[in-house]
Amino acid sequence: MYFILAITLVFASSYGQYSVANQLSSAGTAKRTVNALLVIDVQNCFISGSLALPHSPADVIPIINNLLKTIPFDLVVYSHDWHPSNHISFFNNLNDRRQYIKPGTKVPDQPYQVVTYTGPKVETEQMLWPTHCVQNTGDANLHASLVQTTLKGEIFHVRKGIDPDLDSYSAFYDNQKLYKTELDDILRQRNVTRVFVVGLATDYCVAYTALDANDLNYATYVVEDACRGVTNASVQAQIAYMKRQGVKIIHSNEVRSLISGAALTQLSFSLMLAVLFVFYFTN
Ligand SMILES: *[C@@H]1O[C@H](CO)[C@@H](O)[C@H](O)[C@H]1NC(C)=O
Ligand SMILES: *[C@@H]1O[C@H](CO)[C@@H](O)[C@H](O)[C@H]1NC(C)=O
Repeated sequence: MYFILAITLVFASSYGQYSVANQLSSAGTAKRTVNALLVIDVQNCFISGSLALPHSPADVIPIINNLLKTIPFDLVVYSHDWHPSNHISFFNNLNDRRQYIKPGTKVPDQPYQVVTYTGPKVETEQMLWPTHCVQNTGDANLHASLVQTTLKGEIFHVRKGIDPDLDSYSAFYDNQKLYKTELDDILRQRNVTRVFVVGLATDYCVAYTALDANDLNYATYVVEDACRGVTNASVQAQIAYMKRQGVKIIHSNEVRSLISGAALTQLSFSLMLAVLFVFYFTN
């Protein structure tokens, strides 16, 4: 009986592989799924530093660490908000940029208000933030407890918001889409088909990155419990908008089955065949 079981398992699993391979090649255009994890701005500034988010942002770290330690992503990219001290997004630089404030528009009197600048590069409606994530300061470091190793893939770091005159919520482009970062090239060169986005903040850098990934034709998943936002209202609005655009919003406990889905289907198919054969031969 064990002999029959062994023979059957071997047969069933090779049949399973054959049929999966066959389906893939007959589909012709079917591509291997290549998965990237994008860890957005899990930096001191947004957790305990200069622009600390209100709803316990540190809680995302164990969730992200668990993904890194248990899921074999093909590559992992960490983004960093990486501003020069004269950056356009800082409320404290408003005075130095007075000549660019559009005549007749409201002049903010505190952070978290929007200013309309006419330049120096392009006209832009800029949200003014407290000074945050200044290059080469401890505030801009990735949080010390964030895991920076992976089970199998390569690791990359992408820095954004480096140009004093452009803000960049997305890890793919600046907010005006004048320039691309290296992220899309990194993903394309490695044939990435699917991205999982985690980190800070849901309603800004996570949402902008996910929407760009979706526009760039990556199957895009935002792992909602692995993200925290700035305000609940804008988190709700951005989640709804991302869903309408085709971004999938998931929970961290769904990632494993998405990534091993094909392999699991094949395994359970093989096991089912094996059980049927054993049942048949032993009765
Ligand atoms: C990406 O896909 C192309 C075309 O199918 C292939 O030639 C190349 O080797 C792949 N690159 C990697 C890194 O897998
Ligand atoms: C906002 O969201 C946080 C985190 O999800 C939650 O703890 C808090 O109660 C919410 N606040 C309001 C006013 O809904």
